[in-house]
Amino acid sequence: MTIENHQTGPIPRNSFQPKPSDLSFKLTASKLFPFQSWSHLPTLTYAWNNVVYSTFSVVGAVSSLILTAGIFLPLGFVKSIADTFAGFVTKSSSATGQKRVYVISGATSGIGAGVAQEYAGDGVVLVLIGRDQGRLDEVSKAAQEKGAKMETHTMELREADTDSKVIELMNSIHERHGRVDIVFTIAGALAHLPDTMQDEPWGQGTAERMTQVNVNAAVAFIFLPGRSCKRKNMISIIASSAAFFAPANFCIYGATKSYLLTLGLCLRSLGKTHNIKVNVICPGFIKINDIDLPSLHQSGMTGSMKNAGSSLPWFAFQTPEVMAYRIRYALETDEGCTPWPLNQCLPLIAAQSVNPIMDEVGRWAGAQSYITSELMS
Ligand SMILES: NC(=O)c1ccc[n+]([C@@H]2O[C@H](COP(=O)([O-])OP(=O)(O)OC[C@H]3O[C@@H](n4cnc5c(N)ncnc54)[C@H](OP(=O)(O)O)[C@@H]3O)[C@@H](O)[C@H]2O)c1
Repeated sequence: MTIENHQTGPIPRNSFQPKPSDLSFKLTASKLFPFQSWSHLPTLTYAWNNVVYSTFSVVGAVSSLILTAGIFLPLGFVKSIADTFAGFVTKSSSATGQKRVYVISGATSGIGAGVAQEYAGDGVVLVLIGRDQGRLDEVSKAAQEKGAKMETHTMELREADTDSKVIELMNSIHERHGRVDIVFTIAGALAHLPDTMQDEPWGQGTAERMTQVNVNAAVAFIFLPGRSCKRKNMISIIASSAAFFAPANFCIYGATKSYLLTLGLCLRSLGKTHNIKVNVICPGFIKINDIDLPSLHQSGMTGSMKNAGSSLPWFAFQTPEVMAYRIRYALETDEGCTPWPLNQCLPLIAAQSVNPIMDEVGRWAGAQSYITSELMS
């Protein structure tokens, strides 16, 4: 397998054009149908157990619906009325004259660049982290024009010493600014990129490199602020709608994002005693190639999936700007988990409750739809 070596020049955006013929696994999804022979059919015991699992899923889902609709919906209604009448405004540090400090990994394009623009303004320090200095400068310039004070840091998150580099950076931010208000862990990678695949077949090496960027690097940003920051802060973890349910060919990516979702929701519970708020964002597909969008606001990752044959129609995509606005709203209203856009996420949320037999069917159907591309990730 040969893939062009882009590492000598500027770092390629995620929206690299893969060469399916070069890649080791191009999906023929019809071959993945789970019950294509008599021997693959479930036994009576296994089928019965699955009926039991589904029954309990229904009990869990109905209880959750009744409790949420009967208790939290009325409480939410009362709270929104009370907040409106009280003119409830969170006391921001701008009111106290202190600058707010936001750290964003994966800030060079797509959602990260959108978040940088959303939070840019007077009284704000934005610390942008990415690999490509040119793209960092582009994002930084646009945010600076809105009044933000900018810092950019180039960091390759795929390397084994990422943890120590993140410690060093976070310590220096604390020393210089005395605070970090929100850490956004946004950097992420797919499999079918030259730096993820490198020169080997899809498999263990691919999984290790994706896990290093999507999980290990994110974990470094998630845990470090808690260790060194005494004041109240927030961590916003960008997972994915694939964290709920992933097609079979999106297995490594989906697994890394499920890790982040579970970790984030558990840390949210634990963080309450440490004055740290954790929020997990689960985006669906984000737009690229829209002529109205400047290039830095386009998602490289979606571009890569589209180039690799994703069948999702363009009208279903959302822009990084609107995504960033939704992220800000989620943080300001303290949402624990934010799947968005809902039209893409709801089927995947529903798929979480299927039993293991139907799970196999669902993962095959997802792969067969080629929604996440024709390749493995
Ligand atoms: N796009 C979607 O449809 C979608 C859907 C669900 C979830 N997400 C998640 O949202 C996040 C952002 O996605 P996006 O659409 O904005 O993608 P994007 O435009 O491709 O941005 C990815 C960001 O991650 C950085 N990055 C990638 N590999 C890196 C590495 N090895 N070291 C350091 N930085 C690295 C990139 O930096 P450089 O440009 O400098 O390489 C870039 O800033 C990802 O975590 C992704 O999994 C995206």
